[in-house]
Amino acid sequence: MRILVTSALPYANGDIHLGHLAGAYLPADIYVKYHRLKGSDVVYICGSDEHGVAIPQAATRQGVTPRVIIDRYHERIKQSFADLGIEFDNYSRTSLPLHQKTAQDFFRRVYDKGYIKPRVTRQLYCVSCRMSLADRYVEGTCPYCGSDGARGDQCEACGRWTEPTELIAPRCKTCGNTPEPRETTHWFFALSEFQEPLRKWLESKPDWKPNVKRFCEGWFKAGLQDRSVTRDLEWGVPVPLAEAAGKVLYVWLFDAPIGYISSTKEWAARIGQPDRWKDYWLDPGTRLVHFIGKDNIVFHAMVWPAMLMAHGDWVLPAEIPANEFLNIEGKKLSTSRNWAVWLPEYLAELPPDPLRYALALNLPENRDVDFTWHDYLARNNNELADVLGNFVNRVAVFLHKNYGGRVPDATADDAAGLEVLKAIEDTTVRVGKMIDGFRIKDAARELMNLPALGNRYFDGQAPWRTFKSDRVQCNRTMNTCVRLVSALEVLFQPFLPFTSAKLGRMLNLGRRGWDDAARPVVPSELGEPEILFNKIEDAVIEAQVAKLGAPPEPSVPAAEEDEMLEFDEFRRVKLVIAKVLEAERVEGTDKLLKLKVDLGEEQRQVVAGIGRTYDPASLVGRSIVLVANLKPAKIRGVESNGMLLAAVAGEDVSLVTVDRAIAPGSEVS
Ligand code: MF3
Ligand code: ZN
Repeated sequence: MRILVTSALPYANGDIHLGHLAGAYLPADIYVKYHRLKGSDVVYICGSDEHGVAIPQAATRQGVTPRVIIDRYHERIKQSFADLGIEFDNYSRTSLPLHQKTAQDFFRRVYDKGYIKPRVTRQLYCVSCRMSLADRYVEGTCPYCGSDGARGDQCEACGRWTEPTELIAPRCKTCGNTPEPRETTHWFFALSEFQEPLRKWLESKPDWKPNVKRFCEGWFKAGLQDRSVTRDLEWGVPVPLAEAAGKVLYVWLFDAPIGYISSTKEWAARIGQPDRWKDYWLDPGTRLVHFIGKDNIVFHAMVWPAMLMAHGDWVLPAEIPANEFLNIEGKKLSTSRNWAVWLPEYLAELPPDPLRYALALNLPENRDVDFTWHDYLARNNNELADVLGNFVNRVAVFLHKNYGGRVPDATADDAAGLEVLKAIEDTTVRVGKMIDGFRIKDAARELMNLPALGNRYFDGQAPWRTFKSDRVQCNRTMNTCVRLVSALEVLFQPFLPFTSAKLGRMLNLGRRGWDDAARPVVPSELGEPEILFNKIEDAVIEAQVAKLGAPPEPSVPAAEEDEMLEFDEFRRVKLVIAKVLEAERVEGTDKLLKLKVDLGEEQRQVVAGIGRTYDPASLVGRSIVLVANLKPAKIRGVESNGMLLAAVAGEDVSLVTVDRAIAPGSEVS
C-alpha cells in the first residue's frame, strides 16, 4: 500500500512545544516508523509554514525582518524534531521558490475553472499604521459569543471563523487605534459550491474520529460560505493575477496546505527521482493521512478537500486523525503566558525517549489530556527504568556473568516458554493493528506488558538457581529471555527509537521488519549492555514545574513596592550610554546574548537576556543604556560587567535606547 503522511506545517515564528508534539508530530512519527517496519511504501512530509500575518508580526515585535524570523525558527524547529527522533522524509519550507510556483499554479488552475472570483469588499484599514488589517492584525469583540480579544480570522473563545469587519469595536493590534472601513477587491473561493460534494465525501468516511465528524456537521448546518483567498500584505505568495498586483494568497487557503505537495516534490527531486511525487499525489490508490491538532480540523476536513476537488487532479485525504489539546499541569497551554514546555529547553536537559513514552501514553486522542511532570517521572522511573530497563539489564548481566556473553541454545520449549513466545506473537499483531488504527496510546500501554511479562518469567524461572541444578532448563530460560529482548528491539522502535538503537547494538542482528518480531531470532553472543534509562530525581521535575509560567530568565528583579528611594541612593546608580561593538549568542542558550560595548574610555563585556527578541547582528552599532557600576557577575559561566536596561512585559522585551545620537560614556541622569 502507498501511504503519504503529513503533519501540520508549524509556523516558523516560535519553538515547538509539547502541545504541538502531542497533536500532530509524535503520533504521526510512530505511525510512520511502524509502516516503515512493515515495509509499506510510506513517505512522511512536513515543513515550516513561513507566511501569514504571525510572521511579520513577530518580526515587528522583535525589531528584525520576517526573513530573520523564519530563518531562525526554521532551523531551530528542524533541529528539535531531529533531536526528538522525529524522522521526516522531507522537511521543507514555504518560502522556497518551488513552493511559490506550486501554490500559484494550483491557484491558477482553480481560477481558470471558475471557482475563484473577485468581489468588492469592505476591509479595515489603520490610518496611523498605513496598513490594511487582515486576520491577526485586528482584534475586537466576537460577534457570536461576545468575548473580547477575538481576532480578525478566528475567535479562540468559541472557535468561530470571523471576518475583520464583523468584529464589534475593532482595534488595530499594532497601535490600538480604531481602524476605518475601506473598499478593496478581494478574490473569493467558491466553497459554498462544495457543500454537497463534501457532505457526500464525508459520508463515505464512517470510521473517522467523532471529533472530526462532529465539527464538519456543525459547519454543514451553518452552510458553507465562500472564503476570501487574497490579502493586502507584503509577506506571502503573490497572487498570480495582473489585476491583483500587491496582494498575496491567504496563508491558510492557497498557500500552507499546498506545502504538502511542494514538500513532496522537493523530496522527489532530492532522491533523484523528480517525478516520484506524482505516484503519491495523483494516484487514487494513495492513502493520504493528515495528522493535525483540533484547531486545524476545518481547514483539513473541509476547505482543503474542497480545494483539491476544485483543482481536480489530486487524491483526497483518506484519514484525518485529529487530536484534541494537551493541557499542562492542569492548565490550558498558553505560549503568551509561557505555560508551556518548550522542546529545545527539554532536550537541553533531559533525554528524548522518556518524553516520547510519557506523551505517547498521554495522547489527547479522544479528549483533552493533562500532562504532568509527576506522571512523566513515574513513567520514566517505574516503567521505563524498572520494567523495560530492568528486564534487559538482568538478562544481559546474567549472560555475561555466567555464560561469558554467549547465548545458549534452547532444546524444545516448555510450557512457560511457549507462553512467552505466544505473548510476543500476539502483541506484535495487536500493537500493529492499534497503531494502524491510530490508537497509539493503547499500543504503547499494550507493548509495555511484554517486558513486564519478561520480568515475571525471569523471576518464576529463577535461572540463578537452575544454572547450578538444571543447566538445560537454565539454557532454555535464557534463550527465551533473549528472544524477548530481540522482539522488544523491533517493537519499541516506533516509540523509543534511541533505546531500540541501544538494544540493536547489543544484539547485532541487523535490520528486521515488524513481522520478524513475532518469531524473534537470537544472536550467538550479546554485546555489552548500555544503560537504557536513568532514574529521574524529584528535584529535576520540581525545577521543570517551577519554570512554567515564569518570565523568561534572567528576570529583572521587581522593585519593592511602597519603598521610596532617597535621591542620593538613586545617584549611586551609574547609568551611562554604551555603544554595541559586537554581539553574539551565548552558546547553548537562545535567551542570552554576549555583547561587547564601548563606554568611551573603556570597553566592557555584558550578558543580556534579550536573545529571544533581538537578533545579535541587529544590535551592532546601537546605543543602549548600561548600569555601569553593578558588581560583575557570571551568567552561564560568562562574565558580565554591567546590565543593560530594557522594558519587559511577559515575554516581550524592548531595549531602552537614546532619542538622538550621543557620545558613548555619556551619563544618564
Ligand atoms: N501553521 C498552521 C498551524 O500551526 C498549520 C498549517 S497546516 C497546513 O496551525 F495544512 F496549512 F499546512
Ligand atoms: Zn494601527
